[in-house]
Amino acid sequence: MAPNPFYDRDIVSIKDFGKDELEFVFDATDRVSRLKPAERSELGKGRTLGYIFYEPSTRTRMSFEAAMASLGGSSIGIADLKSSSVEKGESLADTIRVIDLYSDVIVLRHPLDGSSRFAGELSQNPIINAGSGSEEHPTQALLDMYTILKEKGRLDDLSIAIVGDLKYGRTVYSLLYGLANYKTNIHLVSPPSLAIRKESLYEVHNKLRIKEHSDLDDVLPEADLIYVTRIQRERFPDIQEYEKVRGSYTINEKTLARAKPDVAIMHPLPRVDEISQSIDHTKNAIYFKQASYGKELRAALLALMLNENLPG
Ligand code: CP
Repeated sequence: MAPNPFYDRDIVSIKDFGKDELEFVFDATDRVSRLKPAERSELGKGRTLGYIFYEPSTRTRMSFEAAMASLGGSSIGIADLKSSSVEKGESLADTIRVIDLYSDVIVLRHPLDGSSRFAGELSQNPIINAGSGSEEHPTQALLDMYTILKEKGRLDDLSIAIVGDLKYGRTVYSLLYGLANYKTNIHLVSPPSLAIRKESLYEVHNKLRIKEHSDLDDVLPEADLIYVTRIQRERFPDIQEYEKVRGSYTINEKTLARAKPDVAIMHPLPRVDEISQSIDHTKNAIYFKQASYGKELRAALLALMLNENLPG
């Protein structure tokens, strides 16, 4: 078996990992998911996950906690900055140094680009970027790609529409960096003011087959998968600019009626109004399944980071 490339390693950017490494974690997710609870709970036994979220989270924080518990480990952390010494003015650097003393792996979400790279340079234990500004959310991309693999059977030869806030949506960048390893057609659909930041794709643009659109109808008949994103109100410098684009796209029954019968609708969540709840019951809506795969993918990732070798 190939050496484990994730052992004791920071997870800051998807760009730090090659295709073989991405597939290593997908394969490990299958293997860890198949383990009996008693075997699985040996993988994190006696180990502690420390986290701090400078921005709100439901899925990322809870799935990491649930994943660590399933490995037999424990979690400690700060989800509410008001109850921490950040409120007294403690710096990110000192906060990370202290969490590092109490834990074996650190999960950080922070509003600034570069925050996780910075934290990784300070900590002895590995850092996981759980969202850094508008820059990246690498474990979301890993779980997104794993979801595509499980639900569509492949990552090559797909037509993927990525819709919504492509300017501020950090999950979009991590997903594009990951998909750059595959031969797949990508349609970026956004209002012109929320188009992709070209400068953020300069390292991968030669590897991506991208077309840009503002009208979802242009790509609807051919899309195998529609990855919908929330318009990130909190990142707009001017709320009036947000008001101009809110509600730009809504995926509903009419959308599905014009799409391929087996089109998969994904969303990193939380959603606001960009996917109608009226399609939640359809076979196309896989966004809650996607969140569920998140726990399994994160459990496998933690297991790989904490153990040089996995059983099985
Ligand atoms: N997808 C995601 O990151 O969700 P949370 O913000 O709830 O963690």
